[in-house]
Amino acid sequence: MSGELSPIDKAKFVAAKKATEYVESGMRVGMGTGSTAAWLVRCLGEMVRDDGLRIKGVPTSTRTAELARNVGIEVISLDEAKWLDVTIDGADEFDGDLNLIKGGGGALLQEKIVATASDRMVVIADAGKEVDALGAFPLPIEVIPFGWQTTQALVEETLVSMDVLGRNSSLRMNGDAPFVTDEGNHILDLHLNRIGNPRQLALVLNQMPGVVENGLFIDICDSVVVGHGDGRVEVR
Ligand code: 5RP
Repeated sequence: MSGELSPIDKAKFVAAKKATEYVESGMRVGMGTGSTAAWLVRCLGEMVRDDGLRIKGVPTSTRTAELARNVGIEVISLDEAKWLDVTIDGADEFDGDLNLIKGGGGALLQEKIVATASDRMVVIADAGKEVDALGAFPLPIEVIPFGWQTTQALVEETLVSMDVLGRNSSLRMNGDAPFVTDEGNHILDLHLNRIGNPRQLALVLNQMPGVVENGLFIDICDSVVVGHGDGRVEVR
């Protein structure tokens, strides 16, 4: 399945493969979204087909649901599962406290709900995702379409007053139209460079009318499986 891969894809693949060790028959497994999570889903599909692994998977996006079905994983909803044994997902950044920025693929809302409903969240990432301080990757926040420009102005004004942001956010686009999430919302990307206090920022953002969720995952991730381009894997 892995064939001849570029170093970055090899790093993602080896992280995903290693993370399958957290999965056992009978488990309910949350499956993340993105290119690294797609490797995980393919690896699990192979184990279902070849090794008799029996799992029920809860996907975090329509994309992941489609891939999971295609590789033979039984897909159920979160409400059918009620609680999950483990969720395995990618990340855009992780720091030394295992706090994350997620949402580069626009699935942060379902990803946070699913991860929070799990005994354990395992992140799979290539080594380039590790940072000293979160924020170089633009922080995604999911906002409802109604009055999104008013919400954007409120977010910017609040963050300027907190000395966090210099009025620098952008509406995520999909070609000429605003990007639309699985829940029918939009994404604002906040260009922060460095987030001094991610916990406080996550709380402040979620207080604002129009903001549905933010991409800071604080105290949610239990372990990070880090893949390298030469095939090495480390677990944090
Ligand atoms: C999607 C996410 C992804 O996990 C994140 O963007 C990482 O993606 P990739 O594995 O493709 O680098 O949060 O909403």
